[in-house]
Amino acid sequence: MPSKTQVGILGATGMVGQRFIQLLENHPWFEVAWLAASDRSSGKKYGEAAKWRLDTPLPARVERMTVSPAEPEGATPGSVPRVIFAALDTAIAREMEPRFAEAGCAVISNSSAFRMAADVPLVIPEVNGDHLRLIEEQSWRRRSGGYMVTNPNCSAIGLVLALKPLEERFGLEKIFVTTMQAVSGAGYPGVPSMDILGNVVPYIGSEEEKMEAETLKLLGHLESSPGGHAVAPLAARISASCNRVPVEDGHTESVSIQLGDKLGRPVTREDILNAWAEFHPLAGKNLPSAPRLPVEFAPQDDRPQPRLDRNRGRGMTVTVGRLRPCGLLDWKFTLLSHNTIRGAAGAAILNAEMLASQGTLVPALPEAEAVGTAARA
Ligand SMILES: NC(=O)c1ccc[n+]([C@@H]2O[C@H](COP(=O)([O-])OP(=O)(O)OC[C@H]3O[C@@H](n4cnc5c(N)ncnc54)[C@H](OP(=O)(O)O)[C@@H]3O)[C@@H](O)[C@H]2O)c1
Repeated sequence: MPSKTQVGILGATGMVGQRFIQLLENHPWFEVAWLAASDRSSGKKYGEAAKWRLDTPLPARVERMTVSPAEPEGATPGSVPRVIFAALDTAIAREMEPRFAEAGCAVISNSSAFRMAADVPLVIPEVNGDHLRLIEEQSWRRRSGGYMVTNPNCSAIGLVLALKPLEERFGLEKIFVTTMQAVSGAGYPGVPSMDILGNVVPYIGSEEEKMEAETLKLLGHLESSPGGHAVAPLAARISASCNRVPVEDGHTESVSIQLGDKLGRPVTREDILNAWAEFHPLAGKNLPSAPRLPVEFAPQDDRPQPRLDRNRGRGMTVTVGRLRPCGLLDWKFTLLSHNTIRGAAGAAILNAEMLASQGTLVPALPEAEAVGTAARA
C-alpha cells in the first residue's frame, strides 16, 4: 500500500483544528504528523494544550503528540510537513500563512485573510475546482513551489452549493439570504453565554461582506489568457443578513432567488428539484471526503433543522427544503450546512483531496534541495 501523505495542522488546538484531527483520524490518504498553535500551547502535549470539545474521543496518538511552535522551519530539517492545513484567526493567518507558502508548503487555509486575493483560489471542489489553476499565478509557487488554496466562509459554502446547480441550468440574477448561524462558528469560547442564551444577535462582524463577495467569486468564471488566469465574479446581485442564534453546530439560511432565462421558459419546482438531485460533479473521482449527495432535498414541511440534519453525508451534505414560490423574486427555500465540517475542516480536506487527485498537492522540492536529497539518499 502506498504510504500516506504527512500533513500538519496550524491552529490545531482551536475549534476547526480539532475538527481536522477528528476528520483526519484514519484518513486513507493523509496522516497528521505535526501540530502547531500559539506560544501558550507550544511545547505541551496536545492533550494538555487543547480543551477537546468534540463528541468523539481525542485520538490517543494525537493526545501524546507535542505541539510545535508555529514556524515553517522545524529544529530538524524536514520536520514540518509540506502540506499544512491552517485554522488560524484571520489576523494571525495574514502574517503566518505566507511564511509557510514561501517556505515551500502547500497551505490549505480556512481563514478569510487571502480568500479574495486575485491569485488565491477560493474553492469548493463540486463548484469551481478549475479555479485551482490560479496557484500557478502565485509568486511563492514560482520561488519555492509553495502555494495557498482557501475554502469559503462557513455561511457562503452552503449557499453556493445549493445555488451552483441552479446557476448552471437556469442562470442566476438576484440572491437574497438571511442566515441563522451556530455559536461554534465563533470559535471557542466564542460568544458569551449571557449574550446568546434565549437570544438572537443580529450582527456578526464582516460576515455579510464576506458572504456576498465570496459567493460571487465562487460562482465566477476562470478566464485564461496568455497573461495568466483570473476569476471574473458572477454578475448577479446579492444581499446577505447574518444573525447568531443559540444553536451549537449547523448554519441555517433562508434564501430567495431570481433565476436567469437560460431555459427560455419559466423554471418550475420540478426543474429545481431535478437540478439539485442530478448535481454529482465529483462522481467517479473517489475523493474520500466527497459526499454521495452534495445537495439533498428534504421534502418534510419542517426541515431542514440543525439538530436533525447537520450530519447528513457525514456533515458534508447541504440539506435544502421548503422550496416554494417567492412573492418578491422567483423561488425561496431553506438550507442547512454543518459549519465546522462542510464549512471549515471538511471543506479544506476535500480541497486537498482534489489537489492530490490531480497530482499537485505536495509541492515539488526546489531543484537544489531535490539534488541534495538525492545525493544524501
Ligand atoms: N468555527 C467555524 O465554524 C469556522 C468556519 C470556517 C472558518 N473558520 C475560520 O477558521 C479559523 C479558525 O477558527 P476557530 O473557530 O478554530 O478559532 P479558535 O477556536 O479561536 O482557534 C484558533 C487557533 O489559532 C491558534 N492561535 C492563536 N494565536 C496564535 C498565534 N499567534 N500563533 C499560532 N497559532 C495561534 C490557537 O492556539 P491556542 O489554543 O494556543 O491559543 C488555536 O489553535 C478562523 O480564521 C475562522 O474564521 C471557522
